Amino acid sequence: MSTNSKTRIYTEESEQSRHTQKKPSFYIKTFGCQMNKNDSSIITAILENNDYKCIQDPCCADIYIINTCSVREHAERRALGHISSLKKWADKPDRKVVVVGCMAKRIADDIAIRFPFVDLLLGPDSYRKIAEFLDQIFDTKTRIIETKLSDEVYGDIFPNRSGITDFVSIMRGCDNFCTYCIVPYVRGRVRSRPALEIMSEIQNMARSDIKDITLLGQNVNAYSYGNVDFSGLLNMVSQTPGLVRLRFLTSHPKDLDETTINAVKENDKICEWFHLPLQSGCDRILRLMNRKYTKKYFQELVQRIRQNIPDATITTDIIVGFPSETEEEFQETIGMMTEIEFDNAYLYRYSPRQGTQAFKYESLSEQVIKDRLKRIISIQNTITVNKARQMLGQKYEVLFEGPARHNATRGKTRGNIEVIVDKEIAPGVLSDMIIKEVRGRTLIAEFVK
Ligand code: SAH
Ligand code: SF4
Ligand code: F3S
Repeated sequence: MSTNSKTRIYTEESEQSRHTQKKPSFYIKTFGCQMNKNDSSIITAILENNDYKCIQDPCCADIYIINTCSVREHAERRALGHISSLKKWADKPDRKVVVVGCMAKRIADDIAIRFPFVDLLLGPDSYRKIAEFLDQIFDTKTRIIETKLSDEVYGDIFPNRSGITDFVSIMRGCDNFCTYCIVPYVRGRVRSRPALEIMSEIQNMARSDIKDITLLGQNVNAYSYGNVDFSGLLNMVSQTPGLVRLRFLTSHPKDLDETTINAVKENDKICEWFHLPLQSGCDRILRLMNRKYTKKYFQELVQRIRQNIPDATITTDIIVGFPSETEEEFQETIGMMTEIEFDNAYLYRYSPRQGTQAFKYESLSEQVIKDRLKRIISIQNTITVNKARQMLGQKYEVLFEGPARHNATRGKTRGNIEVIVDKEIAPGVLSDMIIKEVRGRTLIAEFVK
């Protein structure tokens, strides 16, 4: 047990009495990206290994954990609003509020001052100690803050998983320092999880009937452990018995190489889907963002993917209104969107993040940013609907994942496009389907006759 100044040392007696007491229950609410969702599963596994009980209804929980995101101001505002709403919940005796994740790392002290009812604040690399800290807090009613970053990868922690699809973290942190992005500051330096631990986890998952697994990292192409690089890992993992589909998220365009494209092309289990964040279609803005590629490079990369894998799905992230972006430069981004026709795009307005390089740049006006976002959303909607219409009458392999509204079932194509079938179908069924209708943006499929 740690003996630092914040940690009480237990006597044998208190250790014993602690173990005879019933351990409290916890509820966990997650904001942010898939990495954060995966981290919530890790936290759950650590607490359950220490006899804490995970429950789905916060009303009956003794501990309320909020896993937070810092990527945009909006994400932080939502998490802060949620914490604020827990004041009453926390009023009952022996209830504890825990705030973890990227925002806890970024502004732990501010949260502690603003919300006196928060008992424990942990950054993304401190989850191993969560049970130990909670034990102390219940015993001594102290408050603990621990936000140090380290080389933690939680390699040996295998969360309890269920369902048809799930995610596995293969690395943590990021070294790219895109000038707008807070992630490298709140998640620390890039480090890869040992390949054998990833393999063990994936074998366990495939044994428990998870059929579609996504390997996760801020930049999966930078995976490197011993002599295993990312394409090596893909090929290793894809051998797992029982695994039907393998995906990965996110690829930094500068690092997505031939060997990975070839692995997707040649290996049947690896799905033909690339999430390739463009961010901007203008070279000057890309330089200011520190993205380390040009518009031409990105165009050629997409061309290479499509030449090798004609039915590949390509999705992207775009930021509008980066400081100093002119209307003409914004038009270049629109130009790239209409030229490439991404199958889907996550479109964000630039959000200044304190501590990043771009925070020092003068922001554009709210009105300009809002207007650009509105325009770009409408352009992508048209592209997405056109792409959906092109799928009409075509055959796709669909893996059914679970129920949708009105007794329907939802599933995904290999390209990660959602389709709905107006029928009840057992999750896990894999079948060729024909797209028969586009309702709004939703694709409706039927069985091949
Ligand atoms: N590692 C991934 C994703 C990181 S966060 C990558 O490199 O693409 C997901 C997306 O959030 C980013 O791709 C970017 O489009 C967006 N994002 C990050 N910081 C942002 C900011 N300050 N303002 C607006 N969008 C941001
Ligand atoms: Fe952020 Fe860039 Fe790293 Fe993605 S690659 S997490 S956008 S710094
Ligand atoms: Fe993810 Fe948000 Fe952290 S996007 S890495 S939870 S800042």
